[in-house]
Amino acid sequence: MKILTTIFCFHLILSLACCGNPKASDKEASCSLKEALGDRFHIGAALNINQIRGYDTASLKIVQDQFSSIVAENCMKSMYLQPEEGRFFFDDADKFVAFGEQNDMLIIGHTLIWHSQAPSWFFTDDRGNDISPEILKERMKNHIYTVVGRYKGRIHGWDVVNEAILDNGEWRKSKFYEILGEEFIPLAFQYAHEADPDAELYYNDYNEWIGEKRDAIVDLVKTLKEKGLRVDGVGMQGHIGVNNPSTDEYRSAIDAYAAAGVKVMITEFDMSVLPSPRRDFGANIADTEQFRAEMNPYPDVLPDSVAMRWHEKMVAYFTLFLDQSDKISRVTMWGVTDRDSWKNDFPMRGRTDYPLLFDRKYQPKPIVRDIMDAAATRESTPGK
Ligand code: G3I
Repeated sequence: MKILTTIFCFHLILSLACCGNPKASDKEASCSLKEALGDRFHIGAALNINQIRGYDTASLKIVQDQFSSIVAENCMKSMYLQPEEGRFFFDDADKFVAFGEQNDMLIIGHTLIWHSQAPSWFFTDDRGNDISPEILKERMKNHIYTVVGRYKGRIHGWDVVNEAILDNGEWRKSKFYEILGEEFIPLAFQYAHEADPDAELYYNDYNEWIGEKRDAIVDLVKTLKEKGLRVDGVGMQGHIGVNNPSTDEYRSAIDAYAAAGVKVMITEFDMSVLPSPRRDFGANIADTEQFRAEMNPYPDVLPDSVAMRWHEKMVAYFTLFLDQSDKISRVTMWGVTDRDSWKNDFPMRGRTDYPLLFDRKYQPKPIVRDIMDAAATRESTPGK
């Protein structure tokens, strides 16, 4: 890690010395990620509740200096926005949007229709039975009209539907699907467009590089377009690991979505260094100290060799994004610093992961300078 830090400090001093100097070359003059990436693609960050409420000022400073786009990590999900039918809670979402506007950022809404973090009332009647398709349509319409309508003209684009397709390409058997069938997706896009005709509308999912899933998403985009509905982009969440997937698998997926006639966005990017616990680990095993130590191998510091592997893979990914920047309009990191990442608590609580661009001390990792340098050495093919 020391080696990486030294390289980074040298680069940083160089670039800071050149900041604002009109005679400096383009490469040297780039003082931030957003500046260096220019019109290639937006560089975004997901904001958590501590940031949105203004408590975590150190992270907010990073966001203001380095990023050009924001998305809410949690506070715009339906269980937070409408915890009971007809009772909306907009305090945090309002603050989030105001922060984006004050800092002239591209503001993304996440997410309108998602099976997870949807309140249970959404699907049931007073007696706890499933509601009819007609009532679910009404509830979806009311939620989308109220939320999208409130921020009309202020939110650039919405993740309209999140994670409706499984890795094998089949529809996820969510409550939305069980009650309405696949029709819930076009309906959601229709309602969102009616509520704000100028907003961009996206389909967002994870493991979006897997062949069967990729093909199903492409088919979905085509179906929406054939129905005459607005769909502007596919969001590839991008929660990846240091060993998998390969950049080639990613490149194929980016090409496939772009060929379907939509913008591609990397919407929730992070790269874990931790092992994946077997899905079938039981409480007995999970509680053993040995198991926890194996699953949480870097509780204090990331060894140089692993940091280097992470760095190289991150370089490869950002090189891919830069090479494909005519197809990619935004790359959003799912968090600002490692200390805030959801990966520390998923799929096991209380681990120490290192998936983001800024470390636990709010310092940029060496990758930040390398992304800036890589951008400076390439022709700009705008994707914004
Ligand atoms: O707010 C409560 C807090 O009051 C409580 O003390 C604490 C202890 O458990 O939990 C807090 O809520 C947690 C919430 O994040 C805010 O931190 C929830 O338990 C936790 O489940 C929730 O996790 C979020 C997850 O979505 C929910 O499914 C993650 O932060 C968020 O990063 C994650 O984001 C999703 C995207 O929306 C969609 N794509 C996948 C991505 C990762 O799962």
